[in-house]
Amino acid sequence: MALLATLAPQEAEGLVRGWRLWARPEQIAPPGDWLVWLILSGRGWGKTRTAAEWLREQVELRGRRRIALVARTAADVRDVVIEGESGLLAISPSWNKPLYEPSKRRLTWPNGAIATAYSADEPDLLRGPQHDAAAADELASWQYAQQTWDNLMLSLRLGDHPQVIVTTTPRPLKIIRQLMQSPSTVVTRGTTFDNAANLAPSALAEYRHRYEGTRLGRQELMGEVLDDNPGALWNRETLDRNRVRVAPDLVRVVVAIDPAVTVPVSDSIMSARARASSSRAGPTRNRCNTGLGFISRTQQSRTFCRRCACGHGPPHACPADWPGTRGFVLASGSKEVDCVP
Ligand SMILES: Nc1ncnc2c1ncn2[C@@H]1O[C@H](COP(=O)(O)OP(=O)(O)OP(=O)(O)O)[C@@H](O)[C@H]1O
Ligand SMILES: [Mg+2]
Repeated sequence: MALLATLAPQEAEGLVRGWRLWARPEQIAPPGDWLVWLILSGRGWGKTRTAAEWLREQVELRGRRRIALVARTAADVRDVVIEGESGLLAISPSWNKPLYEPSKRRLTWPNGAIATAYSADEPDLLRGPQHDAAAADELASWQYAQQTWDNLMLSLRLGDHPQVIVTTTPRPLKIIRQLMQSPSTVVTRGTTFDNAANLAPSALAEYRHRYEGTRLGRQELMGEVLDDNPGALWNRETLDRNRVRVAPDLVRVVVAIDPAVTVPVSDSIMSARARASSSRAGPTRNRCNTGLGFISRTQQSRTFCRRCACGHGPPHACPADWPGTRGFVLASGSKEVDCVP
């Protein structure tokens, strides 16, 4: 503080706004020609701030001119990514503050760079425009995550080397796993407690007290991708370890359905799992049989076939026609509640 008082206003602001002075090392973009910088971390780690500071650097020093800002909803882009405490307006220095025009969903910097706001519940907004950089906030909570992500990636086609920063508290979603495994992604991990210096001590104490050691705490505070569901009969690791390309001849086929119990069955999103048991050797043991079982398909659909309730809208190849089909298992949660022979 004493040092700041001795500086001219612009010098003082330069010091306060100098992100590389204040950032933790993992909040600075890694070197290399990555396409995606994926930050998976606990709540309050500084994800949104890191993305905003990265974008600022891209505009000031890297010549980026067409930026996409994508968040869960239009309100989230506005309230968090643009106008929030860690957002672009708050972190920009007075000499390079972008002009925000909410009606155009647009920020314009003095050098002409433009950032446009997109909501992940309207994936088609990303059809048409082109970008040279993007920030995707809380990807794991996007309603149409895959569709919005695909459209965003297809729009990243300007300049020599477009890049995107993805900041999210993780969830065990396919899109997150795919991004983590992609060779063009660099991943940064972290916990809420890494940013303890900038979070209220009372809040941190409460987080510890309430959530430390719980599953919610592991995901929301520690930023872990929780693949293990304690109520599940099989976990992903077991399934991955035992995958086969072709199942042997099946002696019995069971279609298992997990209807949402709070809505009429005909409206519910159905998840149909066709399981089969075999008299021959195979990867997973079916607990209903002495033989081995195979999960052959899992599918989600709003419509479902009345004949077999398999999740496919007619016309389709009905599992009831599969050789050996003997019945369905209706299930609620992970517990089977009814068995129709
Ligand atoms: N290196 C840092 N120096 C100073 N303040 C920081 C730093 N990193 C983050 N912060 C501050 O910490 C607070 C939390 O940061 P931010 O909102 O970016 O976290 P977040 O991970 O996006 O949180 P959430 O999970 O709720 O979205 C903000 O006030 C932000 O400005
Ligand atoms: Mg955030």
